[in-house]
Amino acid sequence: MTASHAADLVAALLFILSLAGLSQHHTSRAGVVYGIAGMVLALVATVVVAAQSISAGAVTLIVLAMALGAAIGLWRARRVEMTQMPELIAVLHSFVGLAAVLVGWNSYLEVEAHGADQTRIGDDLLGIHHAEVFIGIFIGAVTFTGSIVAFLKLSARIKSRPLMLPGKNALNIGALAAFVALTVWFTISPNLPLMIAVTVLALALGWHLVASIGGGDMPVVVSMLNSYSGWAAAAAGFLLDNNLLIVTGALVGSSGAYLSYIMCKAMNRSFFSVIAGGFGIEAPSGGDEEQGEHREVRAAEAAEMLAQARSVIITPGYGMAVAQAQHPVAELTRRLRERGVEVRFGVHPVAGRLPGHMNVLLAEAKVPYDIVLEMDEINDDFADTSVVLVIGANDTVNPAATEDPASPIAGMPVLRVWEAEQVIVFKRSMASGYAGVQNPLFFRENSSMLFGDAKQSVEDILSALGTGGRGDTDPSARQATVASH
Ligand code: TAP
Repeated sequence: MTASHAADLVAALLFILSLAGLSQHHTSRAGVVYGIAGMVLALVATVVVAAQSISAGAVTLIVLAMALGAAIGLWRARRVEMTQMPELIAVLHSFVGLAAVLVGWNSYLEVEAHGADQTRIGDDLLGIHHAEVFIGIFIGAVTFTGSIVAFLKLSARIKSRPLMLPGKNALNIGALAAFVALTVWFTISPNLPLMIAVTVLALALGWHLVASIGGGDMPVVVSMLNSYSGWAAAAAGFLLDNNLLIVTGALVGSSGAYLSYIMCKAMNRSFFSVIAGGFGIEAPSGGDEEQGEHREVRAAEAAEMLAQARSVIITPGYGMAVAQAQHPVAELTRRLRERGVEVRFGVHPVAGRLPGHMNVLLAEAKVPYDIVLEMDEINDDFADTSVVLVIGANDTVNPAATEDPASPIAGMPVLRVWEAEQVIVFKRSMASGYAGVQNPLFFRENSSMLFGDAKQSVEDILSALGTGGRGDTDPSARQATVASH
């Protein structure tokens, strides 16, 4: 075994340790460190091996490109907001896809220019090589445009509603069948027009697959693209004869696929339907029009309700992250608990914009882990709860998911907040959530809207609560108006 094989093996082990570390809260930091160590080792080993067969000028160019890439990566990582993380990840996936397309084209052009016998491929394996080129380009191009659409949707540059072209399922299946036929043709008779055809076909399919998926299913799409980017990297590994790239790509591909599967289960979605671009999902009905009258409440009255409460459940969502309200929310929790109120958190698996988003924010604000519960752990307790504070959550507390089979989020498990005695919804307007559908919760008898930025609203409740014991709220709070609209 050469030193480079040993380095590949150690790097692969570090990547496996990294994945294991990232699967638990308390080991996630170690997971990140293992990942960084594995990647540094892999890069150094790759450059050292390459240096033995290419010119010093080419090595310098590689090192310069790596330094430039690292500088841009560091700059972006320092600036990115937590709420922009999924869109950044989508852009990074698109780079992996593009790289796989370029590697595929390079492999094809290299063989065309020098002949297979002059490259490491040799004439015997030429057919297999051509199939690899095609598969690599196909997966890479689907990942590339799919990730760009995901980026545009996640950053709200285009609407998150699903694109519903007539015969969309037939289009996707037709594109797959065309890919298989083109691959066979290319393996027998490789030529430039076929290369262009498969690239254009895959770019269009990637775009269509993700454009056809609605906002509510975007979390699964992001992890699915993560998986595709892994397979694209593995395909590039075969073309470059790089074992570590094959192993790393397979790790990313399979862990991303498993994450997609877990998320599909959590959201009661068909895994096949989502990876096949919303296969079998009909055009959603219903938009964001209001469905009745809502009650409005002020911060002072919310404070009064909380002061009288026996038990409180807080369900945070994306709006808490936007408002950066986690610190006043943690302070409110502390103050209510001091008054003897039982306070717990109910976290939906896709609350926010990336897996674990809310848990990270609550941990950052030092909310004790033991009162932060998963949806399944807390869902039966809402019926026995005095007040629920819905802080910047919307789709994840939408009763339409369980009550309206025609809703775009039908079947998605939600936090059953409406079963509590009182629900206070913190948001800035009557606008819909990420999935673009109105929420009947806002119009229920036991719901009140507390309009405004979530951080400001929680701070206003804190000042209205004062510092004293149970029931010690600002007297003016007791006369606070409950405006009806
Ligand atoms: P959403 O349904 O997106 O609702 C967020 C709510 O926060 C909105 O109603 C918004 O209303 C409110 N809001 C925004 N800024 C606010 C602020 N500064 N102060 C107060 N309220 C504010 O969030 P959710 O319930 O967390 O659901 C997550 C959604 O994102 C799901 O549809 C999920 O599928 C999708 N998604 C999740 C992920 C992952 S992995 N978690 C990834 C991508 C997409 P106003 O504008 O009226 O204030």
